[in-house]
Amino acid sequence: MDSSDKTPTGDGLPLCDSSTLQERGKAHCFEVLQYGQPASAFALRFEGQAVAYLNRCAHVPTEMDWQEGEFLDSDKRYIICSIHGAVYDPLSGRCVTGMCGRIGLHKIEVQEREGKVYWYPSRDTKPAFED
Ligand code: FES
Repeated sequence: MDSSDKTPTGDGLPLCDSSTLQERGKAHCFEVLQYGQPASAFALRFEGQAVAYLNRCAHVPTEMDWQEGEFLDSDKRYIICSIHGAVYDPLSGRCVTGMCGRIGLHKIEVQEREGKVYWYPSRDTKPAFED
């Protein structure tokens, strides 16, 4: 089973205040270790739901935002890669069209509680900084 299918357990790691993630607004970017290597990730709000992904296109493993934290297309309906225009569904991370194939984005589990957003490390995605 894919680790992203599991319901996260535990408290998670604090990411940001819920109010930081405005509906279809700028993403909150954060650093992680992906397979032990430094990588960027982002969280945004879409249809009221906080979602987070590795900032890595499924076409070429490069960062996708056209300006820092800007991941949505001009209609604010899809996540779009600024390099070659691959389009992803914001809620599932699935590839909608373009050169992203069937892989889609690497999802990072997040939950909101009491006005805060928490993210959940996985076997593959760990915190960049240990407290
Ligand atoms: S690198 Fe994202 S579409 Fe090519």
